Amino acid sequence: MKILVAGKGGVGKTTIAALLSHIFSNHEYKVLALDTDSVPNLAQSLGIPLDKAFKIVPLTKNMKLIEEKTGARPGEGWGVLFSLTPKVDDIVERYGIKVKDNLNLVVVGSIDVSKEGCLCPAIALAKAFLRHVFLKRKEIIIVDTEAGAEVFGRGLAEKFDLFLCITEPTIKSLIISKKLVKMAKELGIKKTILVINKVRDSLEAAKSYSRIFPEKNIPYHIVHYDNNLQEVEMKGLGVTNLPENSIIVHDVLLLYSKISKFIK
Ligand SMILES: Nc1ncnc2c1ncn2[C@@H]1O[C@H](COP(=O)(O)OP(=O)(O)O)[C@@H](O)[C@H]1O
Ligand SMILES: [Mg+2]
Repeated sequence: MKILVAGKGGVGKTTIAALLSHIFSNHEYKVLALDTDSVPNLAQSLGIPLDKAFKIVPLTKNMKLIEEKTGARPGEGWGVLFSLTPKVDDIVERYGIKVKDNLNLVVVGSIDVSKEGCLCPAIALAKAFLRHVFLKRKEIIIVDTEAGAEVFGRGLAEKFDLFLCITEPTIKSLIISKKLVKMAKELGIKKTILVINKVRDSLEAAKSYSRIFPEKNIPYHIVHYDNNLQEVEMKGLGVTNLPENSIIVHDVLLLYSKISKFIK
């Protein structure tokens, strides 16, 4: 099962990706969490200590690895021949960070060419790695992304089984989400759940949903606003430090139950 977590900036993608990763692994699934943000911070949300999280070098910034795998250095661009099909089957074992039993993280880094400039060998490596992982690994793969639509680029999006479109309950955020949902569908992702996060008033959120999605063809799931998050983040801690009875944990557990129903 490959789950894409995407949406506009600051809506809660990383927080929800981290919580889901922990919840799946607590239910005896083997989980591989992938961070494809150009400013990665999933490690921190997963609860990896700050000093360790700071030292993680994303695959797309790992010059030695890129050279080893593609035969070219980042920045050399298209003028230099490099391998578009590098061997990537050892990357999880070499660069995966064990968060706990059954939960590994690989910080991929940005796969957005426009953001990375002309680091073409780096992007080639990242994309080859993602394709390999999607094809070969049997885990639950949860991909946290950065705001934007690069992850919907051809050759990747259609490999996902589920798109979690994270949104805030505002009309503005819902309109953007509607566009992302449409894109995902056009690219062949079969299932989407709209996760309406930071909800303070469920009734209002449901009304806003009906306004923007009058066809009601996309199921939604509400995650409430949780004050505990700020407290945890002020201390530089991850989602595992949230109190067990916190509303966000409760709501994401419900989301997990819905998702686990698709898994045969
Ligand atoms: N349900 C929630 N309740 C309160 N704050 C939240 C909630 N979800 C996310 N946040 C906060 O919103 C901010 C952005 O969250 P983050 O997961 O980093 O978003 P993204 O990855 O989409 O940019 C963080 O400070 C996070 O603590
Ligand atoms: Mg994020």
